[in-house]
Amino acid sequence: MANATFDIEKVRKDFPILQRKVNGKDLVYFDNAATSQTPKQVIDSIVDYYENYNANIHRGVHSLSQEATDAYEQARIKIQKHFNAQKPHEIIFTSGTTHAINLVANSYGSFLKPGDEVLVSALEHHSNIVPWQMMCEKTGAQMKVIPMLNNGQLDMNFFHKEVSSKTKMVFVNHVSNALGTINPIEEIIATAHAHGAKVLVDGAQSAPHIQADVQELDVDFYTVSAHKICGPTGVGILYGKEELLEQMPPYQGGGEMIAEVSFEKTTYAGLPHKFEAGTPNIAGGIAFGVALDYMHSIGFNVINAYENELLTYATERIKEVNGVIIYGPENPKDKTAVLSFNVEGLHAYDIGTILDQMGIALRTGHHCAQPIMDYYQIPGTARASFSFYNTKKEIDSFIEALKKAVSMLS
Ligand code: ALA
Repeated sequence: MANATFDIEKVRKDFPILQRKVNGKDLVYFDNAATSQTPKQVIDSIVDYYENYNANIHRGVHSLSQEATDAYEQARIKIQKHFNAQKPHEIIFTSGTTHAINLVANSYGSFLKPGDEVLVSALEHHSNIVPWQMMCEKTGAQMKVIPMLNNGQLDMNFFHKEVSSKTKMVFVNHVSNALGTINPIEEIIATAHAHGAKVLVDGAQSAPHIQADVQELDVDFYTVSAHKICGPTGVGILYGKEELLEQMPPYQGGGEMIAEVSFEKTTYAGLPHKFEAGTPNIAGGIAFGVALDYMHSIGFNVINAYENELLTYATERIKEVNGVIIYGPENPKDKTAVLSFNVEGLHAYDIGTILDQMGIALRTGHHCAQPIMDYYQIPGTARASFSFYNTKKEIDSFIEALKKAVSMLS
């Protein structure tokens, strides 16, 4: 145990799903990088909303609408405090990270013009590649790629050589979803700023493990999905610096994002509403705040230390399996709790299918990060990703199951 105050058995009781069986076996859930499980406290907050104060927000004078509005805006403040944003309206609710990145690509990205360059890391999830490719096609800006190295880290020499006054934006994830690599975003942000470029950091995979301080990082945009951090699906946030959000045109038009509408001229609402057209995921936003409360009740330092202990243990134990190849940084300290691997001669998909029969949930495939797979010249990997509610005992079950799968498939 990483800390005497961390009672893993008590924590596990908060997650009803961890009690279930899959294919007749105890569930071992190691697909946390795809989506985390949801504690009872978060589930209860969603039920409470629908049972007791379900109403549309910012629209009604009636009590239910005011209660819902207060709870939603309180959640925004919790999220602001968690990421240490200067102002609540720098937190824009979205449907998740993909929506948040598309918002910036279509809004701030519309300022790009021919001759401009943008730099994207080779470690990105497709959601931080494709929206920018689409915007580059529209605007005529050129996309350059910061290559990766065999150890799953970015080629920072290339970055320092390529970044210039032509560079307008840099896109990088805080943590790679496919490999777990923690990227040197402090260095990237400082260097990009020295050349006048803005930086968008995709925080989808870091948020469950690392509490980012957006002011200390001085990051321009930071994006997060609630469902990776014990919250529900369908909600996330964009953090943006106020001065940038103020300059940006709206991304979607509709109700709630306007000041005045007429057929001659519509004017827009201020932040954050300018970017929040339509009825949002109200219960989801409130539950996101509850999820953060839950994570803080354990503590991010405790979570991080414990997960690193799990990763170190799993990395050692998996080496007992013949023919295992691990991708990504060798030292668990350079990663979050992600173990991406293959077994020589076997297809990751077959490994995943057999492990599922034994109750073990992993993700297999390219993990929406095909450029990483192309670099290693593989179709995909098997990925075990751990959370603070996992145990070493579960890792033991996983290793024994993996050994069995390998002997069945070989
Ligand atoms: N982006 C999620 C993952 O890495 C879905 O699995």
